[in-house]
Order: sequence, then C-alpha cells, then structure tokens
Amino acid sequence: MTQDELKQAVARAARDYVADRLPVGAILGVGTGSTANFFIDQIATIKDRLGGTVASSEATAQRLAGHGIRVLDLNDVDAMGIYVDGADEIDAGMAMIKGGGGALTREKIVAAVADTFVCICDASKRVPVMGRFPLPVEVIPMSRAYVARELIRLGGKPVLREGVVTDNGNLILDVHGLSITDPAGLESRINEIVGVVTNGLFARRGADVLLLATPDGVQTFKR
Ligand code: 5RP
Repeated sequence: MTQDELKQAVARAARDYVADRLPVGAILGVGTGSTANFFIDQIATIKDRLGGTVASSEATAQRLAGHGIRVLDLNDVDAMGIYVDGADEIDAGMAMIKGGGGALTREKIVAAVADTFVCICDASKRVPVMGRFPLPVEVIPMSRAYVARELIRLGGKPVLREGVVTDNGNLILDVHGLSITDPAGLESRINEIVGVVTNGLFARRGADVLLLATPDGVQTFKR
C-alpha cells in the first residue's frame, strides 16, 4: 500500500469512529494536513449528523466549507466531543509532534477543548523517541532571533521555515537535533521562552486514541 492509501484507510476508520461515538448534533473538531484532508472528504458522507465542526486552520475551514459542512467559531462552542487530527510523530505514551503543516497553535487550542483527541496516522509516524522530525515552534516575529538563541541553549538547531506566515501572523522555527525523552517537560520549558506562542509538542494534552494505519489494517490504541 502507498502512504496515501494508508492515510485514506485511517481516514475511513476515523469517520466510522466518529459516526459510532459522537452523538447526533454534536460538535466535531477537525485537524490540518494531508491525513486530515482525507478525513474531511470522508465526513462529508455523515455531515447531516454533525451539529457543526471547528477547524484548526483556514485551509481546513475552506475544505470543510467546500463540502457544505458547517464550520463554527470556537468561541461559539461550549463543548466538543471529539477532535480528529494527524501527527508528524507519536510515541508509546501518546505524546506527539505536530505542526508540520504550521497549524500547531490552533490545533492545540481546539484539542484543549475536546473531550477525546483521536490521532490518525500511518505506521511511519510511530516512533520510540521523538525528535527525528524537527519540532515546530511558533514565534512572534520580533522574538525570532532571541527565541532561536534560547532553543540553541536547550540543545536544538532552530531553522526558520522560509516563506511561511501562520494563520496567526507569526513565524515558525523548526528545531532539529532534539532527542525528546521528556516530552511534557520540554513542552513546558519551550513554552516558557518569552516570544513563543506555542510549540508542536502535544504531551501535556496528548492523544487519547490512536488509529494507526498499517498494511495489515487499522489498529486502535488507547491511552
Ligand atoms: C499540521 C499537523 C499535521 O497533523 C501533521 O503535520 C501531519 O500531517 P500529514 O497528515 O500531512 O502527514 O500537525 O500542522
């Protein structure tokens, strides 16, 4: 199977997961990226059961709207049963690196509201120790150089993501060379640096459920 076929398989499994567990009329959070895009295409088939969706990026909002799926402002939502999103890496403790698509801050906000975070990815994303994928850090533009120096002090090699401005008007530093043995500790430590909006470690609020696409089928893991 190709990686796209694996992503499509896990997107279908996530659609079934949502259809089975999310009460009719409830709100669904929707992530960003190529796997999330396949998921959006799948939920078009159950859109009449959804009370609405909250998008984690402008790109996702546009794709949802293109399918005629209702998109709500998070500020108008009191509760969200499920949030479905991909990941760049996920470890055995269900901590993730996210933000390869640059949407990490909105993803983290939507995930914070959801009762259940369902991570959807193919088996290549599951790793024993995270850090091979560069860790995205969203920064306020004027703090870029200062934050980069602080990230070097933490042992990383930050590289500015050229030509990218986030939906929030900020920049992204991709931090190479980290071996992340304490994801929750590093998440907090980086967020303490003045000028950091957030970083792509999702450890304090990790995934609750992992749907993992393998050539032998989609496997389900729970925290
Ligand atoms: C976007 C993300 C994505 O979930 C992550 O990059 C995975 O993307 P893909 O499904 O395309 O591999 O965090 O900010």
